Amino acid sequence: MIRSVVRGVGSALPRRIMKNAEFEGMLDTSDDWIVQRTGIRQRHIASEDETTASLGEAAARAALENAGLTPADIDLIVLATSTPNNTFPATAVEIQHRLGMRHGFAFDMQAVCSGFVYAVATADSHLRAGLAKRALVIGSETFSRILDWSDRTTCVLFGDGAGALVLEAEEGEGSVADRGVLAASLRSDGTHKDKLYVDGGPSTTGTVGHLRMEGREVFKHAAGMITDVIEDTFHRAGITAEDLTWFVPHQANKRIIDASAKKLGIADEKVVITVDLHGNTSAASVPLALDVAVRDGRIREGDLVMLEAMGGGFTWGAVLIRW
Ligand code: UT7
Repeated sequence: MIRSVVRGVGSALPRRIMKNAEFEGMLDTSDDWIVQRTGIRQRHIASEDETTASLGEAAARAALENAGLTPADIDLIVLATSTPNNTFPATAVEIQHRLGMRHGFAFDMQAVCSGFVYAVATADSHLRAGLAKRALVIGSETFSRILDWSDRTTCVLFGDGAGALVLEAEEGEGSVADRGVLAASLRSDGTHKDKLYVDGGPSTTGTVGHLRMEGREVFKHAAGMITDVIEDTFHRAGITAEDLTWFVPHQANKRIIDASAKKLGIADEKVVITVDLHGNTSAASVPLALDVAVRDGRIREGDLVMLEAMGGGFTWGAVLIRW
């Protein structure tokens, strides 16, 4: 059977780093509160010349370089984002153009913080169906542009950035020993759509709008939803938590990550944490964390890696990859 094997990983961050202390002069908040409640110490904030497309392009180029490939080798781009450069066309098409590609096809996916997990599962389906041979799967976000900078309950949580994977279709044996995407589980439930949303849009207000969140409500649901899809993925692949080499969760809040890992019986030393450095970068958080852990030598070929995310919608999902 066809497997989607990881060939390369890359990321890109805006130049400007904003530490928690910078908020202390703007809002009634503190470095202590932010660190204790979330684990976040800093985030990167895009300047005017840095956009979802430019960050996504830079992450894609880094992943291609890591794979030893060029844009000519790619025939599919799936971009996970909720902060596109324009309402349309898809920012994926702009990235395709920036990479100098006039072949293949590119489209955006919108599943908010779960976007990258959805995008990996979607690219995997396309590769296994024979619609493409090599895919760039990108998560790129500029959430700083949709934050209400006077709302301390949301603006301290998010940051900007991008990460990307190159996936290549390759023949596998059909067992859990294969390299590549081994199993996935995706879910959504619109009952919760008003707990984390943007209060604008082309068809309603005609404006871009700002992010609104009932943090405590999201927090309450997060660990349960995350563990459900991971257990489903374990079941589909016929493995247990002990078989995992690495757990690379969405980086929204260290307390949610710790609670999920504990509930699943995943040892602390297997958990990749980057929320302290990047904040919550929505669809970019998982590939940014992957890039950190691959480049520092933690994730290696043959490792069993579980990706997971949960976010607005609600949407949630998990993907198991043999690196
Ligand atoms: O990526 C998509 C998924 N999103 C998430 O996973 C986010 C999920 N939610 C969370 O991570 C947490 O709920 C937050 C970090 C957003 C908040 O932490 P919490 O422990 O749930 O705090 P809370 O909302 O219950 O607020 C506790 C107190 C409140 O004051 P009172 O009502 O107890 O007097 C807030 O007004 O903290 C206050 N507060 C702040 N204080 C200082 C809220 N934001 C801040 C702030 N600085 N920035």
